[in-house]
Amino acid sequence: MSKEIKTIGVLTSGGDAPGMNAAIRAVVRKSIANGLKVKGIKKGYQGLLNEEIIDLEAHSVSDTIQRGGTILGTARCMEFKTPEGQAKGAEICRKHGIDGIVVIGGDGSYKGAQALARNGINTVGIPGTIDLDIACTDYTIGFDTAVNTAMDAIDKVRDTSSSHERCSIIEVMGRNAGYIALWCGIANGAEDILLPEKYDYNEQRIINSIIDSRKRGKTHHIIINAEGVGHSVSMARRIEAATGMETRATILGYMQRGGSPTAKDRVYASIMGSYAADILLAGKSNRVVGYKNGHYQDFDIEEALNMKKEISEYEYEVSRLLSV
Ligand code: ADP
Ligand code: F6P
Repeated sequence: MSKEIKTIGVLTSGGDAPGMNAAIRAVVRKSIANGLKVKGIKKGYQGLLNEEIIDLEAHSVSDTIQRGGTILGTARCMEFKTPEGQAKGAEICRKHGIDGIVVIGGDGSYKGAQALARNGINTVGIPGTIDLDIACTDYTIGFDTAVNTAMDAIDKVRDTSSSHERCSIIEVMGRNAGYIALWCGIANGAEDILLPEKYDYNEQRIINSIIDSRKRGKTHHIIINAEGVGHSVSMARRIEAATGMETRATILGYMQRGGSPTAKDRVYASIMGSYAADILLAGKSNRVVGYKNGHYQDFDIEEALNMKKEISEYEYEVSRLLSV
C-alpha cells in the first residue's frame, strides 16, 4: 500500500563498499530538493534498534563523494533477523517520524528492508557490495573500485614474481562470488583463475599447467584465487613441492573494500541514490534499484531475491583461452 512520504531515513548495511557515500549524498540531496526531511541511521539495522539516528542536511554530505567507507557506519545485526526485532525497528521509525527508508547493501540487507515494508515502513534498496553478486543488477556500487585496487596490487606482485621466476597465488575477496577473481584474472592476464562457482578441487591440473608453461619458457605463473576457494598458503606449499617452482601466496584482504571510489562507482551511486529517492517520493515500497540491460530499473524485492545470477560461461572461457 502506498502512502505519502515526509521524512526518509537512509542506512548502510552489511560489508561496506566504496561509493556508498556518493549514494548517501544523492539520497540526501535529492530528497531535500523535493521538500523531504532526511535522517541518517548509523550502523545499519543495529543502529536503528539502538536509535542512533541523526538529522541530515544538504551540507552534512559535503566533502564525502570522494571518500571510501560509509560516513554512516555499517554493521551486521542478528536481532533484526527476528520478527520482534523487525517490529521494534518499524516502531522506532514511526517514533522518529521516518516513513520511508533507503537501504544501501546486499541481498541480506534487502531482506531487512522487506521486513520493514511488511511492518508498514516504505523501503527501497540500493545495491552496495564489492562482490557484484546481486542478481537483479548488472552493476553493484563498489565493484569497480575493488577490482581496480586488486588489479593494481596484482600488477605489482607480478613484477616481483617475474624477476624471481616464481609462481604467485594471489587471493582476492569474494566468499561466495568469483566476479572480482574473474575480472582480475582477465585484466591481469593470470595463468589460472580459481572461482568458488567453478572450482573442481583438481590441483593436479594446475600443477600440470605450471610444469607445461615452464617447459614453454614462461618465467612466472600467476594464479588468482577467490576467497571462497581459499587455502592459498597451503596450496602454495603443495604447488612448490610438486613443481619445484618457488611459490608464494599473497592475500590482498580488506584493502579491496577501502579507498576513494572510481568515477564509475561515484556516478552509478549518485544516479541510483537519486532514483531510490524518486521511488519513495512516488509512494512505492518494497523495491530495489538495479542497472540491467543498459537501464536503471526497479524491482519488487521478493522478485529480485528470487533472481539467479551466474558467472558468464563465455567470459570464463575467454579468461582460460587467453591465459595460455
Ligand atoms: P549483505 O547485505 O551485504 O548481503 P548481510 O547478509 O550480512 O550483508 O546482511 C546485512 C544485515 O541485513 C544483517 O546483519 C541483518 O541485520 C540484515 N538481514 C540479513 N538477513 C536478514 C533477514 N533474513 N531478515 C531480516 N534482516 C536480515
Ligand atoms: O563485501 C563483500 C565481502 O568482502 C565478501 O567478499 C566477503 O565474503 C565478506 O565481505 C567478508 O566481510 P566481513 O569479513 O566483514 O564479514
